Amino acid sequence: MPIPEQLDSSLRQSRQIALDPRDDARKRLIVALDVPTASAAIDLVDRLENSCRWFKVGLELFVAAGPTILEKLTARGNSIFLDLKFHDIPNTVAGAVRSASGWGVRMMTVHALGGPAMLSAAKAALDGVPDPPELLAVTVLTSMDGAQLSAVGLDDSAAKQVERLARVGLGAGIRGFVCSPREVGLLRALAGPEIVLVIPGIRPAGAGVGDQKRIATPADALRQGANYLVVGRPITQAPNPAEAAESILAEMTATLRELTA
Ligand code: C5P
Repeated sequence: MPIPEQLDSSLRQSRQIALDPRDDARKRLIVALDVPTASAAIDLVDRLENSCRWFKVGLELFVAAGPTILEKLTARGNSIFLDLKFHDIPNTVAGAVRSASGWGVRMMTVHALGGPAMLSAAKAALDGVPDPPELLAVTVLTSMDGAQLSAVGLDDSAAKQVERLARVGLGAGIRGFVCSPREVGLLRALAGPEIVLVIPGIRPAGAGVGDQKRIATPADALRQGANYLVVGRPITQAPNPAEAAESILAEMTATLRELTA
């Protein structure tokens, strides 16, 4: 049974405290359970929880299974990242964050495009919550490239837009961000070592890209300064998910060893 992960400053600075690289890798891999039913999610967790301790519940699973899936997963000792990317008026998002903070999840997302007032309200909603989840602001979806951005009126590059949204988030007191592997180095340099960077768009060499556009390998994302890697289909749709997870963990372990050498 995996040990629940606590997001604390020691984990954020894990490179400095010389964690065993294999343990460190396990603490940094988040498997996205993008499946249509609770039973499919539990089946995957059964196969993966010897290797993985973090699972992400996103829109597909949450809409199908509701909050009870969170209870089932946390009862097994897993750490949960609730990725619902709240994006609404400040009062509504604050209420949603407050409600979700009662479910024992360790991280949750709001969308930075909601703007400074919404981000501040979301942050304030966690004031006084004991052991609150880390509130992450999603910057630019990893499925967006220049053409997708310009179709919605954003003519700047993805990197420029990520930087703009991160500055808005930092100003609102947000201390964690989701961005693509291509912008990790930029955000790490902008926001410093304490900021939590959670990175989807991870594709091991040779894996199918799917709808993702701004991608990198696990090794590259870690080298750029990612704290956590979010991996969905390369694990969950592999013929043997446990083997696929082990292979990613081996790549992460080797990279972390190299970074701490
Ligand atoms: O299957 P794949 O590895 O592409 O899954 C990536 C996961 O990360 C999905 O659950 C997706 O919702 C999430 N995500 C993302 N890009 C963001 C934020 C979250 O792909 N910017």
